[in-house]
Amino acid sequence: MIRVLFVCLGNICRSPMAEAIFRDLVKKEGLSDKIEVDSAGLGHWHVGELPHEGTREILEEQCISYEGMKARQFHIRDFGDFDYLIAMDDQNISELQELKGNNGLIKVAKLMEFVDETKEDDVPDPFFTGKFDYTYELVSEGCHELLKYIRNENNL
Ligand code: 4NP
Repeated sequence: MIRVLFVCLGNICRSPMAEAIFRDLVKKEGLSDKIEVDSAGLGHWHVGELPHEGTREILEEQCISYEGMKARQFHIRDFGDFDYLIAMDDQNISELQELKGNNGLIKVAKLMEFVDETKEDDVPDPFFTGKFDYTYELVSEGCHELLKYIRNENNL
């Protein structure tokens, strides 16, 4: 099983959106028995909550399920449990590097690194910008390219 974890700050806006979109793509491509998807936040403030209503609204509009998703905080054991840690911005990356310390090599990347000629290197936080449509546009593009990358790297 290949395990993918999306990481953001609160785990209510960007990373659950990525989890839902990626899970939907994996299902549509018939890979649900090969790729497992989850998301987590570096902060603890929203643990146990549903995705933000802006995220829920856009996912509903796009007919993408977020069933069973509740915010959780990133845990140090996630470094060992996941094959790909996909962060949303540089701040997430710095915090992950700090938490990792000397615990060896892990695969950490930013979602938009997978998109050639991307408009943004970081996914701007809609919790502050309010722009959930734009977040969807970026995250969806990132997820499509990430899945291509993972399929290629793992001969799927
Ligand atoms: P997210 O957005 O990292 O995309 O889930 C945020 C949600 C909540 C907060 C910050 C970012 N917060 O500070 O509560």
